[in-house]
Amino acid sequence: MSLRVAILASGSGSNAQRLFDLSRAGVLAIDLVLLICNRPGARALERAERAGVPSLMLDHTKEADRERYDRSLLAALQEARAELIVMAGYMRLVTPFFLNSFPGQVVNIHPALLPSFPGVRGAADALEYGVRLAGCTVHFVDEIMDHGPVIIQAAVPVHPDDGLDALQTRIHTLEHRIYPQAVQWLAEKRVQLEGRRARILPAATARRAVTPDGTWFAWPPLEEPF
Ligand code: GRF
Repeated sequence: MSLRVAILASGSGSNAQRLFDLSRAGVLAIDLVLLICNRPGARALERAERAGVPSLMLDHTKEADRERYDRSLLAALQEARAELIVMAGYMRLVTPFFLNSFPGQVVNIHPALLPSFPGVRGAADALEYGVRLAGCTVHFVDEIMDHGPVIIQAAVPVHPDDGLDALQTRIHTLEHRIYPQAVQWLAEKRVQLEGRRARILPAATARRAVTPDGTWFAWPPLEEPF
């Protein structure tokens, strides 16, 4: 049976778009049951509509406090019978109350190699710091921002003349590969948590690993077709 997945987004929604595309192509064993966006007019909403994925705009400025907002969020996700919550550019912290309702079922992607450079300026902070390797991380969400157990990370080089746009584009390209891969592992029930360490269990039938070409590196290895 397909895993029922809901996406939370606030902005452009390019990661959401990848999940729409790969789900439609039959690469991901998921049912996209809902996309919720907290910002009116965000491109993510338009993308969901175009992909035929049910969507909902829940404007956070209309709720008195964080917990009340998360109660509305929770109600919508429960009604959609979501089993996995995928945060894709969702620019809000979720409350403990929300997380307790979905234990081990909320994941996020961050544009840096955590635990370095958490927060909203991940890629920019890495560039300003002068790191040689930047990257992205898919992790479970816990009560601390950008802190939960890591599922997969990918690294890219920082080139001497990189501006933020160039670096962000390089990171984004890899986000579009590692996020669907992580979601597929979760759909296949191959992610096992041992404390903070996530183990990826072997596939029922062997999958070929993708060989990095020197411009990126991911660990655990991506499997075809990611
Ligand atoms: C990504 O860089 C992601 O790492 C961060 O927000 C951005 C979302 O991009 N959390 P998009 O909306 O999926 O295009």
